[in-house]
Amino acid sequence: MSAVLLELRGLAVSLPLGRRLVRALRGLDLELSAGERLALVGESGSGKSTALLAIAGLLPEEARVEGSRRFPLLGREVVPGRDFGLVLQDPFASLNPVLSVGEQIGEVLVAHRGARWSEARRASAVLLERVGIGDPERRLGDPPHRFSGGQRQRIAIAMAIAAGPRLLLADEPTSSLDTVVQSQILALLDGLVREQGMALLLVTHDLAVASRIADRIAVLYAGRLVESGPAHRLLRAPRHPYTRALLAVARDLERAGAGPLAEIAGPTLDPTDRMQGCAFAPRCPFAVARCTDERPAWRGHPRDGVACHRVEP
Ligand SMILES: Nc1ncnc2c1ncn2[C@@H]1O[C@H](COP(=O)(O)OP(=O)(O)O)[C@@H](O)[C@H]1O
Ligand SMILES: [Mg+2]
Repeated sequence: MSAVLLELRGLAVSLPLGRRLVRALRGLDLELSAGERLALVGESGSGKSTALLAIAGLLPEEARVEGSRRFPLLGREVVPGRDFGLVLQDPFASLNPVLSVGEQIGEVLVAHRGARWSEARRASAVLLERVGIGDPERRLGDPPHRFSGGQRQRIAIAMAIAAGPRLLLADEPTSSLDTVVQSQILALLDGLVREQGMALLLVTHDLAVASRIADRIAVLYAGRLVESGPAHRLLRAPRHPYTRALLAVARDLERAGAGPLAEIAGPTLDPTDRMQGCAFAPRCPFAVARCTDERPAWRGHPRDGVACHRVEP
């Protein structure tokens, strides 16, 4: 097993919403090894983006944070762009509309690799080519709006990997793209992460996406992990009722093609609720009284385990 690159212990993040506090993360434990590819999966609102922002050190100022985040292999100060790259759902959010893509990629190289602008220009063209942008020398001068959505995501990826970080953080990087482009971008990410030996933390609501790229999958529900394990184990033999439900939805979707979104039945949790027991209990077909009263402890290995009263130890 390789060394631990990232370690979260009991990470809790609350965000003020008017007079109330949204409990976006309620105590997240997570480990990522160097070179490992981990997918963090859960429905919308489960706290995936908050987790990613907390890892990146980019939470809004008003966020209240408890617990710890450590990067044992990196220095004390972790610098975005240099130590990790960030790819977001909307490539416009990571790109500057008024700068050419060459200037933006070049800036990363100048800032974090100490490149001179003449070298940076050449290296940016190589990066553009590597992420699949044709005629890169000429396209360096174009601003982001001259590219298609899929191309913009490729450019955002080029920026994220430009400084050669050990970790790539990606938040729903293919969710705004149509399925063909989605597939191409996943293949691109997969290839780049393998080539550079980067670790990947991919956030997605879609288990099908996770299954294409992840060594390990961690399932988040209402700000806590309910299950995590090697992708092949979790997809073949899911233990938590929520993981099973997510898998069933993903399979329905596959069958239905682009049909209406299948959903897991039952009431979702009020994110401001303090919650004593298992957050999934109100929707769980196997729930008993204990599930609402007592929070299930993590069982098994930190990297291959489940938090559920109803799963046999
Ligand atoms: N800046 C914010 N202020 C208040 N609530 C927020 C903020 N950002 C996220 N939330 C809330 O935190 C919870 C988790 O959100 P998020 O991390 O975006 O989930 P996901 O990425 O899984 O959809 C949700 O209930 C969301 O509404
Ligand atoms: Mg999100």
